Amino acid sequence: MTYVLLVLGAYLLGSVPFGYVVGRLCGVDPRKEGSGNTGATNLARTCGLWVGIVVLVLDFGKGFLPVFLALEMNAPWPWVSLAGFAALVGHCYSVFLCFRGGKAVATTIGVFAAAAILPLAVATLLCVAAIAASGFVSLGSLALVTSMPLLLLAFDSPRYIALSIAVLLLVYWRHRENIGRLARGEEKPWRRKKQAEE
Ligand code: G3P
Repeated sequence: MTYVLLVLGAYLLGSVPFGYVVGRLCGVDPRKEGSGNTGATNLARTCGLWVGIVVLVLDFGKGFLPVFLALEMNAPWPWVSLAGFAALVGHCYSVFLCFRGGKAVATTIGVFAAAAILPLAVATLLCVAAIAASGFVSLGSLALVTSMPLLLLAFDSPRYIALSIAVLLLVYWRHRENIGRLARGEEKPWRRKKQAEE
């Protein structure tokens, strides 16, 4: 029962729409501007870099906290995985936003920061390299989730591979419009054009 409550709590925490709340505090509805996403990238794009960083940290916490708590409770790894995945589902399909939400990348980083820090560190480097090379956060995000299952194997942490594959499918699904834009050469950079030109 405790673990079921943990998973439900993770979903509710994941549902807290920090990007939407912070955006509204800045006078922007992120669902109606930029990419329409409530995540850190679109907040950086529509409200400025520091606002994006604040949302990144808050969304990271939504993934980190439930997994950290599950591990502190010595929950079996399937429950740890479920708690992490519930936070991601909450972020993407928030009960507070009529089951809409973000694309789960910052929250994914939080989940794996608690569960498998070394594979995550390498995946994050790949993500940053992809963003630096392309200018597109979406490409970095896809590199991160694509590399995680392989890195978990390489670092001998196979217990979280099922979670990483579920995360990969969820994040690809949430990025389906980005993937289309990338294929057409129409993806939005993380900065607004006006900012980029300054
Ligand atoms: O973390 C979300 C990022 O991968 C893409 O965001 O706003 O460019 O769709 P956005």
